[in-house]
Amino acid sequence: MGFKVKDLNLADKGNLQIEWAKKHMPVLNIIEEIFRREEPLKGLKISACLHVTKETAVLAEVLKAGGADVMLVASNPLSTQDDVAAALAKKSISVYAWRGETGEEYKENLRIAAEHSPDIVLDDGGDLHTLIHEEYPDISRNIIGGTEETTTGVIRLKAMERQGVLRYPVIAVNNAYTKYLFDNRYGTGQSTIDGILRATNILIAGKTFVVAGYGWVGRGIALRAKGMGANVIVTEVNPTRALEAVMDGFKVMPMREAAKVGDIFVTATGNINVIDKEHLQLMKDGAILANAGHFNVEINLKALEELSISKRKVRPNVEEYMLKNGKKLYLLAEGRLVNLVAAEGHPSEVMDMSFANQALSVKYIIEHKGKLKARVYNVPEEIDMKVAELKLKAMNIEIDNKI
Ligand code: ADE
Repeated sequence: MGFKVKDLNLADKGNLQIEWAKKHMPVLNIIEEIFRREEPLKGLKISACLHVTKETAVLAEVLKAGGADVMLVASNPLSTQDDVAAALAKKSISVYAWRGETGEEYKENLRIAAEHSPDIVLDDGGDLHTLIHEEYPDISRNIIGGTEETTTGVIRLKAMERQGVLRYPVIAVNNAYTKYLFDNRYGTGQSTIDGILRATNILIAGKTFVVAGYGWVGRGIALRAKGMGANVIVTEVNPTRALEAVMDGFKVMPMREAAKVGDIFVTATGNINVIDKEHLQLMKDGAILANAGHFNVEINLKALEELSISKRKVRPNVEEYMLKNGKKLYLLAEGRLVNLVAAEGHPSEVMDMSFANQALSVKYIIEHKGKLKARVYNVPEEIDMKVAELKLKAMNIEIDNKI
């Protein structure tokens, strides 16, 4: 078992974090008990490319309890919690991850995960699935199946399916109701605000808060910003979603108009250059820019550099750009996922449901070995329902029975 982490001495601190997360993840705790008893993953190798957080650590332990040999690498160069990574390494989980990986180091760690020759691949964003498909055809042939955690990753995998290049079945964990309705909406909603506040400590009340994209993530952010007293503007390219935002009580306008009045901007679209050069030029002095989408492509960072005469770090996770037009713009978390870079990602309670879907989907893939095609599957309804049922039970909430 190998590992590469920032500092093994952080392990005790990491263990306390993992213990804290576990206390708030009752559904995964139940699954862990079942896995420990039944060992459904005995003798299997799993490579997981996920944000290395205290919640992911709980999932990794559940998979290990099920008998798997787990290797974990980061799905973002800036999201790793180094204390958690150290604790995992000490618990015999092969982890290759540290905060602040360079692009090359990130790729190298993905290669290590691919070369683990996994039976099952877990991914968040699709980078590991893509790498295995492009560079490891022999290894991909032996993979029983995989899962995908996030919207962006599912979009990439569905494109691979359409092109006929997908080599193994993948379960789109993101598409489970007990995932996106809670993780994408309430998880990102809260943790994005958390990231902005930890980075800036600004007052949200009374600010003009622009949310680009009204998918489940955008909805959650808009809802929470409104709840804290912001005047929320939504920008969209999809007419139906724009209409929903209007009827949910938000102002809707094009980014070129929103750019002139916004105090805080958050992108949550999955698209490239949603905040582009023309928008940056229109922004008010002091505007704050953050991203909640998977990749750091939604704010045109190249244009921001080109428009600026200088930049300096003014607080952790806050970069001040001095523009040629004399205005200052503040970029949070280098334009990467602000909730995971400047805060701790989604709270454990929602990751409990997302990762319960992950664990049960892995079990399902094993139980259906050889029966699934190389396609993108939704999480089976019985798993989705089971997760909701267990969560309600853990929350001591009873509901009526169907007649
Ligand atoms: N994605 C968003 N929040 C997360 C968390 N806390 N752990 C793992 N992945 C995440």
